Amino acid sequence: MQSVVLALGGSLIDLEDDTGFLKNLVSLFQNVSKVYRLYVVVGGGKTARKYIGFGRQLGVDEKRLDELGISVTRLNALLVASLMEEVNNVIPSTTSEAAAVDKPVVVMGGTTPGHSTDAVAAELAAKVSPERFVIATDVDGVYDRDPKKHDDAKLFDEVTIEELERMCGSKWGKAGENVVVDGPALSIIKGLNCDVFVVNGRNLGNLENTLYGKGFVGTKIKKK
Ligand code: UTP
Repeated sequence: MQSVVLALGGSLIDLEDDTGFLKNLVSLFQNVSKVYRLYVVVGGGKTARKYIGFGRQLGVDEKRLDELGISVTRLNALLVASLMEEVNNVIPSTTSEAAAVDKPVVVMGGTTPGHSTDAVAAELAAKVSPERFVIATDVDGVYDRDPKKHDDAKLFDEVTIEELERMCGSKWGKAGENVVVDGPALSIIKGLNCDVFVVNGRNLGNLENTLYGKGFVGTKIKKK
């Protein structure tokens, strides 16, 4: 069975939302998993940033702040996995472990310090050779500047890795950093053979189309 890898931005797991969105999201995963093995790598979102921000004020070092973030991503992954039956029971701690799971849906969070879950998902994609790698976030794709701060921000249909590196940097910054796609993820994406997309995960119809390789609204990351 062919597969699809999804990096699910932690902003989509918001405990202040009503539960309806997550229920619908998981039912979408179950549908997609009838056609593709679906690997979902879950981010830490607001909760991770709260821990990291609080820890930083208390003088906790950067590596440990990353570890706090990783714990939250795994907690979020456990929540998502708990809503499905045909899924791994234990959250893998490495991409090799995740790649070895034989279930229709495989859910994991972060792994080691120094990158985001986008990089984990890219690393997993390098191992499982999916049809597509989809990064789902809470805006419509990659913009020329932050669309939450600028009403006139322009959405790119396509963007090259080089352009993204200019916008996001090519190295890991610091724990909890909020860039569209972090540098370590970009350097792995360069070597992937599959198409890579950034889309809005709140728009479930659009997310579904992207996962199935149909027409979508969002940004395609060009490797050349
Ligand atoms: P996220 O992947 O959630 O980062 O991990 P993010 O940039 O906040 O992404 P979104 O907004 O959820 O999509 C949260 C933090 O956990 C640490 C990093 O500090 C990251 O910023 N982390 C996560 C790691 O150090 N390693 C990992 O494998 C994953």
